[in-house]
Amino acid sequence: MTKVYLNGEFLPLEEARISVLDRGFLFGDGVYEVIPAYGGRLFRLEQHLDRLDRSLQGIRLAVSISHHDWRDILQSLLPTGEMGDQAVYLQVTRGVAPKRDHSFPVVATPTVFAMAFPVVPPEPGQAELGVAAVTLPDTRWLRCNIKAITLLANVLLRQQAVDEGAAEAILIRDGVAHEGTASNLFVVKDGVITTPPDGPELLPGITRDLVVELAGLHNLPLIQAPIAESRLFEADELWITSSTKEIVPVISLNEGPVGEGVAGPVWRRVWALFQAYKQQIRAGLVD
Ligand code: PDD
Repeated sequence: MTKVYLNGEFLPLEEARISVLDRGFLFGDGVYEVIPAYGGRLFRLEQHLDRLDRSLQGIRLAVSISHHDWRDILQSLLPTGEMGDQAVYLQVTRGVAPKRDHSFPVVATPTVFAMAFPVVPPEPGQAELGVAAVTLPDTRWLRCNIKAITLLANVLLRQQAVDEGAAEAILIRDGVAHEGTASNLFVVKDGVITTPPDGPELLPGITRDLVVELAGLHNLPLIQAPIAESRLFEADELWITSSTKEIVPVISLNEGPVGEGVAGPVWRRVWALFQAYKQQIRAGLVD
């Protein structure tokens, strides 16, 4: 039986209920996080919770749950004993208002929900097969650094990519590539890794930040700079990163090969560093 957390209670998934007047349901008025757990240990929890705080501030929503309380709640959702990798999804909305009105209700208690689910990271042989991507115009709003549950543009863009036989869409705004519909972007050219800088056009990914950190620790040249769309087509390697997919090589873009059309050597190096980091998490040496 899957146990979830809803507004202070742990209960079976089937019994978790919210009102149809919840502003998350009516307006998409809320924020969320997805946090992996390796060997029962939450990955970079403080960084995820700091980002949650920034998202909550971004939508002007106050929630009285400390990081310590969050840790307890989320840890309680993870199955104990031998288990595969998991991820925790958490969502906070502006709660239930008595009537549907766009402006904030005078009084409302945030709705807080969390659940865990299994994630199956790809095996090495599978990961290096890579994925296809397409470029699409970024139709989202200009507050993409908030991890908002309002994901309709992302959903439509991802579906368009899938309809075109690709796994992800790389989103272009004013000739610049910022990120995917649910992933951050890395480009490799002549051994130098580039990822776009933080800004309102993209989510500051926790996986991305770890890649930046690992590159720094292991002296791999990495810069954070805007990526013109044209550079995607001259790249030796393209990768996308996210909590649930880790680091994925993009081997074809708009049906043409990226570089040699196979996962590249820089990806191989960074992927291995990332896997080693996960082992350290499992051993409780880092988080
Ligand atoms: N998405 N950019 C967007 C728009 C995202 O939705 C995500 C993650 C990322 C990567 O961030 P991180 O490395 O912190 O997961 C970048 C999650 C996984 C989701 O919506 O399910």
